[in-house]
Amino acid sequence: MKNDFVSYLFLVNKERVLQHLYFGKSVADFDAFSFTNLGFDWSKTYLSKTGEEKQYEDGYYHDRSLLEVPSFGYGDERGALIIARQAQGSSKTLFLYSSHRIYDGLPKSKTLPSFKNAGSAKTLEIVLEDEAKGLKLVLSFSLIDGFAGIIRGQKLIATKETDVLRAYSLAFDLPSSDYKLTHFSGDWSYERRLIEEKIEPGTKVLGNTTGRSSHEENPFFFLSEPGSEEENGEVYGFSFLYSGSWKGEINVAKFNSTRILLGINDSSFSYRLMPKEEMELPFALLCHSSSGFGPLSRNLHDFERNHIISFPSSYLAHPILINSWEACFMDFDTAKLLTFAKEARMMGTDLFVLDDGWFGERNDDTSSLGDWYVNTKKVDMEKLISYVHESGMKFGLWFEPEMVNPKSVLFKEHPEFALANLEEEPDLSRHQLQLDLANPKVINYLYDAIENILSKFDIDYVKWDHNRSRGTAYSPYLKNEKEGELEYRNTMGYYELLSRLTSKHQNILFEGCASGGGRYDLGELFYTPQIWCSDETDPVQRLFIQYSTSYAYPLVSMGTHISKNPIMDYASKGEIALFGTYGLELDPTKLSEKEKEEIRKTMDAYRRLSPLIAEGDLYRLRNPYHDNSFCLLVINKAKSQGVFLYVNLLKENARYRYVKLRGLKKDTQYTLSGYERSLSGEYLMNVGINLYGWQNEFQSHYIELQEVAK
Ligand code: DGJ
Repeated sequence: MKNDFVSYLFLVNKERVLQHLYFGKSVADFDAFSFTNLGFDWSKTYLSKTGEEKQYEDGYYHDRSLLEVPSFGYGDERGALIIARQAQGSSKTLFLYSSHRIYDGLPKSKTLPSFKNAGSAKTLEIVLEDEAKGLKLVLSFSLIDGFAGIIRGQKLIATKETDVLRAYSLAFDLPSSDYKLTHFSGDWSYERRLIEEKIEPGTKVLGNTTGRSSHEENPFFFLSEPGSEEENGEVYGFSFLYSGSWKGEINVAKFNSTRILLGINDSSFSYRLMPKEEMELPFALLCHSSSGFGPLSRNLHDFERNHIISFPSSYLAHPILINSWEACFMDFDTAKLLTFAKEARMMGTDLFVLDDGWFGERNDDTSSLGDWYVNTKKVDMEKLISYVHESGMKFGLWFEPEMVNPKSVLFKEHPEFALANLEEEPDLSRHQLQLDLANPKVINYLYDAIENILSKFDIDYVKWDHNRSRGTAYSPYLKNEKEGELEYRNTMGYYELLSRLTSKHQNILFEGCASGGGRYDLGELFYTPQIWCSDETDPVQRLFIQYSTSYAYPLVSMGTHISKNPIMDYASKGEIALFGTYGLELDPTKLSEKEKEEIRKTMDAYRRLSPLIAEGDLYRLRNPYHDNSFCLLVINKAKSQGVFLYVNLLKENARYRYVKLRGLKKDTQYTLSGYERSLSGEYLMNVGINLYGWQNEFQSHYIELQEVAK
């Protein structure tokens, strides 16, 4: 398969095994022999079903050939894609080619996040079979014009009762091990730290078992050839459309090859398939760039904006949000909220969001999750929403649907809805338990409760939070025998609930959140086009978080708000928050006139620039993880408008601090805000701009570029 950017090649050998050949820059011809002929080896034989010792053909070896569907139990130490067991027989799996077809479009899924706008997509679907187990694997590879990547889909179909013990979504072999691994580890308020390390023999495991794609490790990573940088070097990117616990394995084998495996975390996983039953596995993306990380990110951003993310039509102008959380936490009443809304509107915000604390008896985080009815002692919801709408703003409301506090009506009435064994001592986190979304009754309860609020009140936006990781969960619904399905079924339950609510309310913007950015992944973005990036609102820390998030996700998906954090003034904080979906997390009644003025200026800039930020190409010019500065540039597709931000970290002095811009038109003159004369694209890209002199800690340089009309 190939498009203008990439070729993806494999062959079905005489043993009917899918041997991987190549994924990389598009090539017109290919020498498959050099990939399959690995030299003589005495261990090339196997015992056939007829009892004779046979030679593998086509130079094929289970343990060292490059493979699409690595087997289990045949001596391949690099890691298997699927492991399955039946009442009779071993856990061995060996999937052999059975048939294929090619169709226009992208694979569809009944249960999982997938893709929008198939566009020019073509899909090759291959059916493989483990004949001993009667287990089918339907594998698909899709290519879309303009996207330097492959979408991989998989489905398992059983003919006999089978326990699936591992069901990864992607296996990818490379004929080299000379790579750097770049991945994104972190914690609450410390999301997606850029980690770079050389891969070594053995297996490096990424991922988590927290029940969400996690703060701890984001389901996205790169392998790059030595010396790769923003605009040079061969880079492979791996991403997963899944919001639950995941696992990535990077194995460097003794024969100098590298295997990447990516899928649902198999640590306590097992899934029982009954005859004719099928299990859809989440989609995985494999991306490529032959000229560095920058083009890979830009190409991926385009793909995500075109095929994964979609905003309701009333949100295409990206309204400026103000959220009550950091302003007053749960300490509010109607009068306070009305004053807050009035002041916010006077400052120019467009969307007023009432965060946690409006429901049940909730005045602190010890109670009421699950009781989704308005606390009328605290809020006159009707009055508040009418006021907000009449003043010209949209209205948003916070929910944390997947959780329950033991101190709640829901828990009192339905303790069996909680994902906990109440015979043991369930561990609480933030005083709460998770709900068992494997149980259809729980999904229906939540759907009705939330739907009741959404249809009763005129709501334009929902912030969907998730504030605890799975912990020692137990599903009363699945009971012990199906406990291994808990993780997958709960994630599927989450998708079902989200999908029912988002399709019923297509005009509402759903923003994802999980204690900040604990569930930032492509599965989530399929339903919630915007995600609150992190609870960390310290702007300097945000530089790091937003910078590394941009490797995998476009700026338009990042909730980037300013707060009263005093480390910078509002002008600089605002400039940083402009590179995302701008908003405020503060009490507008407590701002000085000077502060309001600074914020208003950024709001004006956001209104001017939001189409550019949402749709433009991002260039990372200085990496704060490597340098003493952070610098981003966004250029629109027509290359006529841009916005540049440089932030210095530690104080330093330099007479020559040139930053070369990228992505401009060579022969075009650009005006730069704050500069007297216009400069050509050629000059700006080859010579750059000199940000000379003393730079204080966190000093920022913000420049807007505009093409000079000819
Ligand atoms: C965590 C979120 O990240 C915050 O923005 C806020 O919504 C709180 N939860 C509310 O409990």
